[in-house]
Amino acid sequence: MSFDFIRTDIDEQKAKSRYRQLVCTSTASQGNEIIINGKSYLNFSSNDYLGLNNHAQINKALQDGVDKFGTCSSSSSLVTGYHYAHQALEDDICQWLNKPKCLLFSSGFAANLALFHALGKNEQSHFYLDKLSHASMIDGAYQSKAKVKRFNHNNIEQLTKLLSSSEQSADTGNNKLIASEGVFSMDGCQAKVMELAQLAKTNSAWLYLDDAHSIGVIGNKGQGSNSIANIDITMATFGKAIATSGAFLACDENLHEYLVNFSRHYIYSTAISPAMAWATRKSIELIQSEHWRREKIVELSELFSDLLTPEVELVGTQSSIHAIIIGDEKKALRVSEQLKKQGVWLTAIRPPTVAVNSSRLRVTICAHHNTKDIKYLAECINKAIA
Ligand SMILES: Cc1ncc(COP(=O)(O)O)c(C=O)c1O
Repeated sequence: MSFDFIRTDIDEQKAKSRYRQLVCTSTASQGNEIIINGKSYLNFSSNDYLGLNNHAQINKALQDGVDKFGTCSSSSSLVTGYHYAHQALEDDICQWLNKPKCLLFSSGFAANLALFHALGKNEQSHFYLDKLSHASMIDGAYQSKAKVKRFNHNNIEQLTKLLSSSEQSADTGNNKLIASEGVFSMDGCQAKVMELAQLAKTNSAWLYLDDAHSIGVIGNKGQGSNSIANIDITMATFGKAIATSGAFLACDENLHEYLVNFSRHYIYSTAISPAMAWATRKSIELIQSEHWRREKIVELSELFSDLLTPEVELVGTQSSIHAIIIGDEKKALRVSEQLKKQGVWLTAIRPPTVAVNSSRLRVTICAHHNTKDIKYLAECINKAIA
């Protein structure tokens, strides 16, 4: 049979309790609930951190955008796909993050690939990646021609050593990029942003942060890691706290010009829907002014942590993401199933998304949750794990 690895690999995935399946969901009128197969669950697996999905003003902006520009950009940006909505959104993001330039991509995955491909043009480039960086950063880095080194998660000491050992080797040159996530997707903790920025400066390296899980949530106006230090290059998806779709990369004029001219992911891809860009502007406006959304995440997260029994291994964080480490894949699945029976939707995260023996429940606490939801969640988790 042709491509017979397909069956073998799937069977192996099942045997390892790593089999994945699509489930069709619909969001209830309140954002804290989802409906699956006609049953309603409290949803603690969503990335709608600020509870902005289905917001009346954003929905209205999307409709206005459709009326003004249509549903589709109808071309790649360099042909005729770059509309006023895109330009206005880029300007808003530059102002928000205090960055000279910004470029839009159809997804965060594509933006990460684009950046690493562009900067990893040849062997003279060196990438230093946190080991817990997102799959798209790892793929982008390894598919490029750059030399890639990975440092243990948030281990500044090891990164410092790696940078100084490459300094002594003749081939390093000036093309060094330190890359990390701003808030890590699977355990919610933050990168040591100040230290990374300082290290980049002293080593004449650039700092690249993927702020997919920081944007909107971290900073007094939701600016993410740029509220902590000046980040050379920032990427963030619109598909999480911003509650629309697509992504941006913010950088200096030179890199912007280079990407527009050489990034295959940018040049050969249809520009994001201008109507979606229009809606994204409204979302960013709300993110900057509605501080209560960030405050609510902090308040509910503290309550959650206080209510858990000592047997529950919670990774403490300042973000929306709270990991409960279970370890074994089968146990993680069992706990997740038990919670579903009690009306709580919490996906078990297993290898290869996380390291072997670190399977977990990834709880996301969002601005649309309330005290009652959190109390119920903690009660169910305490029972399931005890
Ligand atoms: C850290 C991180 N980077 C990038 C992405 C990809 O972004 P997008 O969903 O827009 O492709 C994700 C997840 O979706 C992510 O968690």
